[in-house]
Amino acid sequence: MSLIAVTGSTGALGGRVARRLADRGLQQRLVVRDVARAPTLDGAEAAVAAGYHDHAGMVAALRGASTLFLVSGRESATRVDEHRTAVDAAAEAGVGHVVYTSFLGAAHDATFTLARHHAATEEHLRASGMRTTFLRNTMYLDFVPFFASADGVIAGPAGDGRAAFVSRDDVADVAAAVLADPAAHDGATYDVTGDERLSLAEAAEVLTEETGRPVTYVDETEEEAYASRAHFGAEPFEVEGWVTSYQALGAGDFDVVTDVVERIAGHAPQRLRDLLRSDRESWAHLRP
Ligand SMILES: NC(=O)c1ccc[n+]([C@@H]2O[C@H](COP(=O)([O-])OP(=O)(O)OC[C@H]3O[C@@H](n4cnc5c(N)ncnc54)[C@H](OP(=O)(O)O)[C@@H]3O)[C@@H](O)[C@H]2O)c1
Repeated sequence: MSLIAVTGSTGALGGRVARRLADRGLQQRLVVRDVARAPTLDGAEAAVAAGYHDHAGMVAALRGASTLFLVSGRESATRVDEHRTAVDAAAEAGVGHVVYTSFLGAAHDATFTLARHHAATEEHLRASGMRTTFLRNTMYLDFVPFFASADGVIAGPAGDGRAAFVSRDDVADVAAAVLADPAAHDGATYDVTGDERLSLAEAAEVLTEETGRPVTYVDETEEEAYASRAHFGAEPFEVEGWVTSYQALGAGDFDVVTDVVERIAGHAPQRLRDLLRSDRESWAHLRP
């Protein structure tokens, strides 16, 4: 049986994908930074690499795998270089097909600055000679409750722009289906979205109805957005990523609905109301 290497299994998306592959009876190797945190799953072995920047470690961990599920790394100022190193390691290890978690609208001039990292990574993958499938996920539905602060305010420069947020469960269902039969998805780029277009004001209304906690949306200016995030003390690239994600939403860049979840995972995508009802922990911070 062919071996699928899976990165990110200690995280939310990769962990969900690894579980789904195990449920399908597929053989996988979990490439992790800390073996003690790798999930224990039938048909899964673990291999350690220090991270995507660790070329030798990644080559050793990926040898023998025919397919790689490459979860984009944590946002960092060096993320593109880390991704390029991981891609080069996969090619050197003899991986045939890489399924990469990209972002909706990945482009070198994307308003959302972190989407530019994905464009550069996709480009490197296309030039690698390996087969590729890109899952261009839109913003996570799971994050929508966390857009609201504990005092019930969603603030950002997004105007009345809309997005069809997609749940990590649905992305994982799509990824598992693709990884189970990668040849059927060779060369494909999928925009992975939900099917309900919501502005942040509309998301605030749903949050209010479902949680009983009044949530409001405040449309910030760019200046206000940078100022209101300054107290986090985050690095400039990260703050720029946060602010430009709202600006991209406002510009309509995420106003895309596809049938990818329905078509590939075989079920309708989750909506915000579904998520809030099925995962009450997702809005624990809003509980009155
Ligand atoms: N679509 C969206 O709205 C959205 C939002 C946020 C992030 N993302 C992107 O989607 C990815 C997956 O989301 P998630 O929710 O599963 O994130 P997550 O829970 O933070 O998990 C990230 C996983 O990637 C691993 N990882 C991160 N950087 C790495 C590196 N440099 N080298 C090797 N492994 C690395 C982490 O390993 P450790 O456990 O060892 O840290 C973890 O297993 C994120 O990493 C991010 O790039 C997308």
